[in-house]
Amino acid sequence: MTTDAISLRSVSRTYGRTYGNACGSASGRAPGWAFGRTRHRDSRRASPDDTTVTALHDVTLAFPRGTFTAVMGPSGSGKSTLLQCAAGLDRPTSGSVTLSGTELTTLSETRLTLLRRERIGFVFQAFNLLPSLTAEQNVALPLRLAGRRVPKARIREVLQQVGLAERARHRPTELSGGQQQRVALARALVTRPEVLFGDEPTGALDSQTGREVLALLRAAVDREGQTVVMVTHDPVAASCADRVVFLVDGRVTGDLAGAGPHDIATHMATLEAAPPARPTVLTSPRPTPHPTPGTGTRPEGRPC
Ligand SMILES: Nc1ncnc2c1ncn2[C@@H]1O[C@H](COP(=O)(O)OP(=O)(O)O)[C@@H](O)[C@H]1O
Ligand SMILES: [Mg+2]
Repeated sequence: MTTDAISLRSVSRTYGRTYGNACGSASGRAPGWAFGRTRHRDSRRASPDDTTVTALHDVTLAFPRGTFTAVMGPSGSGKSTLLQCAAGLDRPTSGSVTLSGTELTTLSETRLTLLRRERIGFVFQAFNLLPSLTAEQNVALPLRLAGRRVPKARIREVLQQVGLAERARHRPTELSGGQQQRVALARALVTRPEVLFGDEPTGALDSQTGREVLALLRAAVDREGQTVVMVTHDPVAASCADRVVFLVDGRVTGDLAGAGPHDIATHMATLEAAPPARPTVLTSPRPTPHPTPGTGTRPEGRPC
C-alpha cells in the first residue's frame, strides 16, 4: 500500500486559449463542484503553439499521507490548476494522478464524482457556496449528495469548529467573506475526507480568523491523519505546513521542508525576482515532522 495520499506523475495541463474559462463561473473554476461536475476537457485538441497555455508542465509530485503541504508561486504559475488536477476536478492533458494508488485520470465522470464526494474535500478560492442555502444546509450538502444520513450533531460540531455555530441559519449573503470561507471549510471537513485541498483558504480572512483556520487544518493532519494541500501567498500561513512546494510557469522549482516564515518569504522573493530555470530541491522532498507546539523547536513566527 502506497504511503502517498496523492501522487502526480509527469502531469501536464494545456489550455487552448480560445476556450478561456470553459466552465463559465465567475472564478473560472469548477462551478459544478456541488453537483459533481468536472471541468471539461477542451473540446478541441490543443496544439502546443502560441495559442495555447501550458498551465502545468511535466509535474511529478507526491503528497504523503498525513502531511500538510503548502503550494506557493507567482500569480498564473499553475497553483490552482495543480490543485484541481490533484483533486480530480480537472483532467490533465497528459500524465497520471493517483489517490492512494487509484488512477484518477482514467475514471469515468460518475466514478470520479463518487470518489471525490467520499474521499476529497475542496475549499475554493471563491467559496462556491450555494446562495439559496443556509450555512448548515451548505455544510450538509456533500452528505446529502452522497445519499448519506445528515447527523445534526456532526453539522453542529463542524460549524462550531470553524467558529460559526451562531450563524448556522444564515445564508451566504448574510455572512462576511471570512465567514463564508469558514462555511466552505466546514463543508469540506464534514465528510472527514482523506485529502483536503484549499485554494487560498485564508486569503479572505482577517489574521485572527486566518490563524484559527490554519490551526484547524494543522489539527486535521495531526489529530485525524488527514492530508492537507493548501495554496497560499502568505509565508506565515505556509509555515504551518510541513513542506512548501514552489511553482513557476507550471513547473516545480523548489521544495522546502520545515521552514519558517522568514525563509519562505526569502525564497518567494528570489522566485519573483528571477525564476530559476531548473527545479531545485532545497531540502529533502519528504517532509520533516511538524514540530510539536511548545517544544521550543518551532521556527519563529509560526501561527499554528
Ligand atoms: N480555463 C482556462 N483557460 C485558459 N487558460 C487558463 C485556464 N485556467 C487557467 N489558465 C491559465 O493557466 C495558467 C495557470 O493558471 P492558474 O492555475 O489559475 O494559476 P495560479 O493559481 O497560480 O494563479 C495561467 O496562465 C492561466 O491564465
Ligand atoms: Mg489560483
